[in-house]
Amino acid sequence: MSAGDGSKVRWAVIGTGNICSDFCAALKLVDNAETVAVAARELPKAQAFAKRFGIGKAYGSYDELARDRSLAVDVCYVGLINTKHKDVVCELLRNGRNVVCEKPLGMTVEEVKEMVKVARDNKSFLTEGFWTRHFPAFKKIDEIVSEGTIGRVSAIHCDFGFLAAQDSRTRLKELGGGAIYDIGCYTVQYATHLLGTPAKSWRPLSIAAAGVMDPVEQVDLNGGISMTFDDKSDPSARLRTLAVLHFGTDGRRSQTARILGDKGHVEVHRIMHCPTHVTCVLYTDGGSVRDDHTFELPAWRPGEGGIPEDFRFFFANSEGLAYEAERVGQCVKEGLLEMPECPLDESIAIAQIMQTAREQMGGQQMGE
Ligand SMILES: NC(=O)c1ccc[n+]([C@@H]2O[C@H](COP(=O)([O-])OP(=O)(O)OC[C@H]3O[C@@H](n4cnc5c(N)ncnc54)[C@H](OP(=O)(O)O)[C@@H]3O)[C@@H](O)[C@H]2O)c1
Repeated sequence: MSAGDGSKVRWAVIGTGNICSDFCAALKLVDNAETVAVAARELPKAQAFAKRFGIGKAYGSYDELARDRSLAVDVCYVGLINTKHKDVVCELLRNGRNVVCEKPLGMTVEEVKEMVKVARDNKSFLTEGFWTRHFPAFKKIDEIVSEGTIGRVSAIHCDFGFLAAQDSRTRLKELGGGAIYDIGCYTVQYATHLLGTPAKSWRPLSIAAAGVMDPVEQVDLNGGISMTFDDKSDPSARLRTLAVLHFGTDGRRSQTARILGDKGHVEVHRIMHCPTHVTCVLYTDGGSVRDDHTFELPAWRPGEGGIPEDFRFFFANSEGLAYEAERVGQCVKEGLLEMPECPLDESIAIAQIMQTAREQMGGQQMGE
């Protein structure tokens, strides 16, 4: 894979946790990307990570990397726990760094708005790491929908979740846990991308959410959001589209999505946030015709191309982070300040939806 004009895109990685490890390995699959620096809360951790991935510079604090004038870097990848995103990203942006930050961009709408403002004020590139958008299979969905193959889209259904350990980051309030933050955001971005309208800042017309809260941690374990949107295709403005989103960290899920049209539907097979297989089903008089599209992930082998011999990805399909890295590299090389397919105003809208949903999920239970 290649990222643009031939010169190397120099990356810094902020954090040494699971996703940072996956991202570093995926960067090895992008031809003209190189990782030049890594920062962790403790220097020995950063040094060990640097040694493992052949990275030249290690920093014992995130701010030290952000402020080091001698460090020439094109873009920083932030893969920290959710509660750290805002402060660390803003410090990087204020120091003129370009940033891709893992989802969710911030914990609240206010945080996300602040991050976007700092990026714009400093004329730095910022994007939320919705890697889904860069998968060839997701682009295929876009193509099928935008070309009208399945007709008028009336609804999308998403079901995403897994069983997280009780002590997992995703279930602890202090570490920014909650199913909506960890995976619900992926289902929301399906809705805003496929049903939202840029002219309306991707905002739904209505939203109703319910959730099962962990009574001790007060984070959501299992939640659902229903939203209606204006129908972009209906000039009479009488029709609406519907998103039905389900997410949870309290048990296995189908990890699939469906986009429903009046001529057919798209099935997004497991795993819907990093898809490799979609089926377009077209209705006929007597039944239906199925058209399968399968995409190979970027190939890699342990011990080759700078990937450590004992390397294993922590998360399924993480090779696909290379698609995101390649696209971010292109944007930065072109001097863009936002990624056209992941606009920052959409990130604000997503944060707004999630905040409204969290408020509704945390409300009083019936009968209390
Ligand atoms: N794109 C994806 O598919 C995907 C998958 C998983 C996670 N994520 C996102 O990536 C982020 C990190 O998730 P992860 O699974 O990689 O988490 P993780 O393995 O637990 O790593 C946590 C990271 O946060 C840093 N951190 C800073 N303060 C911390 C604190 N007080 N306690 C614990 N860690 C602290 C750690 O820093 P040091 O390295 O400095 O110790 C480490 O880099 C989250 O925003 C998550 O939503 C994305």
